[in-house]
Amino acid sequence: MIDFTLTDEQLALQETARRFAQTEMAPQAAHFDQTGEFPEKIIKKAWETGLINEGIPEEYGGPGLSVLDTCILTEELAAGCAGMTTSMMVNSLGQLPILIGGTKAQIEKHIVPFTKEFRYCSFALTEPSSGSDAATMRTIAKKVGDKYILNGRKCFITNGGVANLYSTFATLDPSKGHKAICAFIVERDSPGVSAGKKEDKMGQRASNTTDVIFEDAEIPAENLLGREGEGFPIAMKTLDKSRPMIGALAVGVARAAFEHAVRYAKERQAFGTPIASFQAVQFMLADMAKDIEAARLLTYQAAWMIDQGMNAAKYSSFAKCFASDAAMRVTTDAVQIYGGYGYSKEYPVEKLMRDAKLIQIYEGTNQIQRVVMAREILKD
Ligand code: CAA
Repeated sequence: MIDFTLTDEQLALQETARRFAQTEMAPQAAHFDQTGEFPEKIIKKAWETGLINEGIPEEYGGPGLSVLDTCILTEELAAGCAGMTTSMMVNSLGQLPILIGGTKAQIEKHIVPFTKEFRYCSFALTEPSSGSDAATMRTIAKKVGDKYILNGRKCFITNGGVANLYSTFATLDPSKGHKAICAFIVERDSPGVSAGKKEDKMGQRASNTTDVIFEDAEIPAENLLGREGEGFPIAMKTLDKSRPMIGALAVGVARAAFEHAVRYAKERQAFGTPIASFQAVQFMLADMAKDIEAARLLTYQAAWMIDQGMNAAKYSSFAKCFASDAAMRVTTDAVQIYGGYGYSKEYPVEKLMRDAKLIQIYEGTNQIQRVVMAREILKD
């Protein structure tokens, strides 16, 4: 049997997140979008409310939310502000490689502190010349005694400028492709680690996005995750698990745009009647609602499969890709329904359209999602 009913706990989580998004995030969203400032106080309050680091298992002092619960939470927060939500949720993305590839001792040392004090985490994979083709990274790790020395530069790193801890990927030998890639736990205050320039982004301007630079950075050998050469599968497993959350983030953005569009269509008069009475507008609203429901269902399915321990690589890509493409269509149509006002920064929908664009790009472009889907479809 299939049951689409949320449990009482899930409804309570949804309600808490919705209230937080509506009272703390949405009223400030335009300010942080316009200024590009980082919403430190709001994110700290989310931590105090128990809305971040949600994936840390209970045995390590965290809330131990399932991936499905995380998607319910993320959709609500994203309806308040996508940029803030990305910075909040990247804490979990940065923690995942450690939870996936770390020993009990590594988890206790590096993950447990997130449950006790307010800290930021980050996932440092992308480099200036290796985004989609992640295995061609150029950041070098060299073992010297009981340390690895890292040299290189990561870019477009969410929370790069604020993180206390980076899950970082580097290669022992670029000529050996993915087989030489290692995953490391890198503390921000390690010698030789610094954050570079902050990106002045089109959308999601409340999230902090910077370069992260390693100049003879000294990383204790005990901070290697798994064995040498196991970094690439750790990165891929991390992304398989986090992509449904990105689908949920897209659903939240699309839902916010849709709700604005419905309200506006009922209020705005043209030819002596609300524009919602025109079939041209009704069909747009119908398509928007249909896309949002379908995106949420795919997202929940991918999350549920991960929670059941099933291989969900294809479904995670379905969810991330479909939901972010849907968010792009829905937010663009919301701007269209607002007409000239939709293009003005005085109204909320142009921000949502700019925010949606990034969701088609980060966590693997939607073209890379199709690569993953096609490989899964065609493999034996
Ligand atoms: N789980 C486990 N292992 C996996 C795997 C998975 N899902 N996918 C691949 N692997 C393993 C393969 O089995 C293979 O190992 P073996 O050789 O031992 O069999 C190895 O990894 C290499 O796999 P591929 O040959 O498939 O690798 P590839 O180089 O052809 O590329 C790719 C794979 C899917 C294109 C990958 O490079 C990719 O996902 N690129 C996109 C990167 C990305 O998503 N970046 C996002 C950055 S994070 C971000 O954006 C966060 C933010 O700011 C919000």
